[in-house]
Amino acid sequence: MGKFKKMRKKITFIGTGLIGFPMAERLLQNGYELNIFNRTKSKALPLKELGAEIFDSPGDAITNADVIITVLTTFDANKETLLTNDISYRGKTVIQMGTIGIDENILLEKMINKKGGNYIEAPVLGSIPQIKSGNLLTLVGCEKELFDQFKFLFKVFGPDVHYFGNVGKASAAKLAYNQLIATLTAAFSMSLGFVIKNDVNVESFMEILRKSALYSPTFDKKLQKMLNNDFTNPNFPLKHLLKDVQIIEKDFDKSKIDTKILKAIEQILENGMNKGLGDLDYSAIFNAIVERN
Ligand SMILES: NC(=O)c1ccc[n+]([C@@H]2O[C@H](COP(=O)([O-])OP(=O)(O)OC[C@H]3O[C@@H](n4cnc5c(N)ncnc54)[C@H](OP(=O)(O)O)[C@@H]3O)[C@@H](O)[C@H]2O)c1
Repeated sequence: MGKFKKMRKKITFIGTGLIGFPMAERLLQNGYELNIFNRTKSKALPLKELGAEIFDSPGDAITNADVIITVLTTFDANKETLLTNDISYRGKTVIQMGTIGIDENILLEKMINKKGGNYIEAPVLGSIPQIKSGNLLTLVGCEKELFDQFKFLFKVFGPDVHYFGNVGKASAAKLAYNQLIATLTAAFSMSLGFVIKNDVNVESFMEILRKSALYSPTFDKKLQKMLNNDFTNPNFPLKHLLKDVQIIEKDFDKSKIDTKILKAIEQILENGMNKGLGDLDYSAIFNAIVERN
């Protein structure tokens, strides 16, 4: 049990978007007291019913707790929220759980350290259903003592909490996983589109695919959405896949890994944005790849 747990269970939680909201909800349901800040206050207000205190400024929310969790879209959103006010982080620990780049996490760590605080990167694999069922996978990068101190907190989201090493290692692993989300979904869209256009029976195609080494469970997870042309109620929207692909491209490039495939997917996702698919489920990439009749 961590020192923090013995002292108090108050956390400042910043960012109640698509995954931030159910994460905050789960912490509240598990007995944690939350100070919440969200740029659009109305989105956080329903959490008041579970006992959260909703703040108007990040500074006030941060000052009131020693542990700060952020679930924000980008590096810039973290920087603007955590570092524009003259907040002292002495004795505080910032846990950044969104998907941002390796160097971005390292830079945020430096900035928080400079203000006296500790920094943990803890990107997650999984989405709203996994948060609700307590099966989110958390990847952690920080000093080992910090990991030991806060491991119990990540367990609220799911039993699989993996320590990768210092800040930068967990984000590298997360980007490697998300690269697969982008390329596997694009690859499946192409094959499924080709099968449909050539009047091949889709169920026969899937039956063999499921038995082959080429199969990935994500194909069946997205199949019905693609067949029904219904990408509403997204857990992870296409615009965020584009954001991730742009980060992945930059960081893979630095590792001297050819990013031509990613550049093509980026372009396809940008076409998808222009077609108005940005707020739909990311598997709507199908409609950017396959021209519907
Ligand atoms: N959705 C998923 O399944 C999933 C899974 C794994 C990882 N992630 C990652 O988790 C992070 C959050 O994702 P999400 O799906 O919850 O996104 P989202 O629904 O778009 O929410 C984004 C959050 O960031 C806030 N925000 C954005 N720009 C800001 C700024 N400049 N200043 C202050 N706040 C700002 C938003 O505030 P407003 O409400 O005011 O817009 C909102 O709270 C992303 O990095 C995403 O890639 C998401």
